[in-house]
Amino acid sequence: MNVIAINFAYIISASLFIFGLKMLSSPATARRGNFLSATGMLLAIIVTLANQGLDYKWIAAGVAIGTVIGLFAAYRVQMTSMPEMVALFNGFGGIASLLLAWGEYHQHPELTAFIAIVTFLSAFIGGITFSGSMIAFGKLSEIMPSKAIVFNGQHIINAIILLTAVASAAIFAINPADSYAIFLLIVVVALIFGVTSVIPIGGADMPVVISLLNSYSGLAACAAGFVISNNILIVAGALVGASGIILTNIMCKAMNRSLTNVLFSGFGATTQAAGTGPQGEVRPANAEDVYYILEAADSVAFVPGYGLAVAQAQHVVQELGELLEENGTEVSYAIHPVAGRMPGHMNVLLAEANVPYDQLVEMDDINPRMDSVDVCVVIGANDVVNPAALDEETSPIYGMPIIETHRAKTVIVLKRSMNPGFAGIQNALFFYPNTRMYFGDAKASIQALVAEFKGD
Ligand code: TAP
Repeated sequence: MNVIAINFAYIISASLFIFGLKMLSSPATARRGNFLSATGMLLAIIVTLANQGLDYKWIAAGVAIGTVIGLFAAYRVQMTSMPEMVALFNGFGGIASLLLAWGEYHQHPELTAFIAIVTFLSAFIGGITFSGSMIAFGKLSEIMPSKAIVFNGQHIINAIILLTAVASAAIFAINPADSYAIFLLIVVVALIFGVTSVIPIGGADMPVVISLLNSYSGLAACAAGFVISNNILIVAGALVGASGIILTNIMCKAMNRSLTNVLFSGFGATTQAAGTGPQGEVRPANAEDVYYILEAADSVAFVPGYGLAVAQAQHVVQELGELLEENGTEVSYAIHPVAGRMPGHMNVLLAEANVPYDQLVEMDDINPRMDSVDVCVVIGANDVVNPAALDEETSPIYGMPIIETHRAKTVIVLKRSMNPGFAGIQNALFFYPNTRMYFGDAKASIQALVAEFKGD
């Protein structure tokens, strides 16, 4: 294929990526958006493979191995393990950029200063992404301790590593042809830096880190695109880099924390001791009590959280929602931007259970009309409904926007115990006079409600 035809196809691919990304911003169009972007990628791959001088047997081997791993992972992975899988795949993106830069440099060590710099960036950022993602994967899957690992002089060591990288980059850019050893040093330093920069972050903050590493993998791919003068790799890498950083920013904002706080504070490492924090009388309810409350309600808002994902209760919640609608109740699902453990976690779960998109309501839309909601059913959510975020200045979550369920006429909280959630703090909502605690596994509890409605 000639260069004009290739670049024309790349422009079509890039447009498909951009429209696809845009469509991912609404659950109603997300599937089509994903399909559009995948079509763009397929086109880009076909056009790239039509290039001259490729060794197809290696490419075929790579495609076969990648397909097997991808299919296996996609079928086997549990919804609650999705963040780990994303971490792993980000890491693979990073190592691909590193290896590409290395391979190119190995074959053609005579580089211009510009190509030397992008080769450095591709290898360095790619290396950090790989080893950092492996640590994130280890923490999330609990192969290694998920707590923040902190030691004396950590910042000094990180500063020394960064200075070594900058100095090595300068030497490499001045004389790349004679700097093979320096390049290898850059690779080693990048891999070490990925580890040392992620180990001090607690497992609970890993979703933000993963989103940041996702952005890095895009930047590494973008640099790799410059190394081999491939326009679509530059564009795709830039899109991943930008969208990853936007997502990181959205998550930080939704938690009212700065990125610096996430990266350096060891948040979530401590749990409030039992007996501290808000105290009071808890009003437990059983399935029958909750049934009567729901049966009499004109409007019910479900507020899903991480516990819904753990219990895999999305399908029974959808069934309960349908029964309520048949009973003449207005049903909605109030979604907090950081409910669960990854961006869009609740939207994905509810979409999987075929909850109608128009019943999903964002936090900013439900809060103004919360006073008129008859019943809020909080399902395995804790921090995202904790009123301490609004009025307790000493609380670690103070300032985080919440779904203000406490303003509804009645609140029913489904969880297994009085244990705290992600932030490790007790929740005053559980002691409010309008709150009833319905203890148990979320799926079993909702199944019991469904049985009550069906008169089983
Ligand atoms: P959490 O505050 O973590 O609370 C989840 C609750 O679910 C727990 O209190 C737990 O109580 C309950 N639970 C667990 N398993 C259950 C089961 N099988 N059945 C019923 N309940 C169960 O979750 P949230 O309210 O969704 O808040 C999310 C937190 O994660 C926020 O603090 C947020 O900042 C943080 N975070 C989120 C993200 C993203 S992007 N989503 C990223 C980083 C951090 P029991 O143990 O008593 O059952």
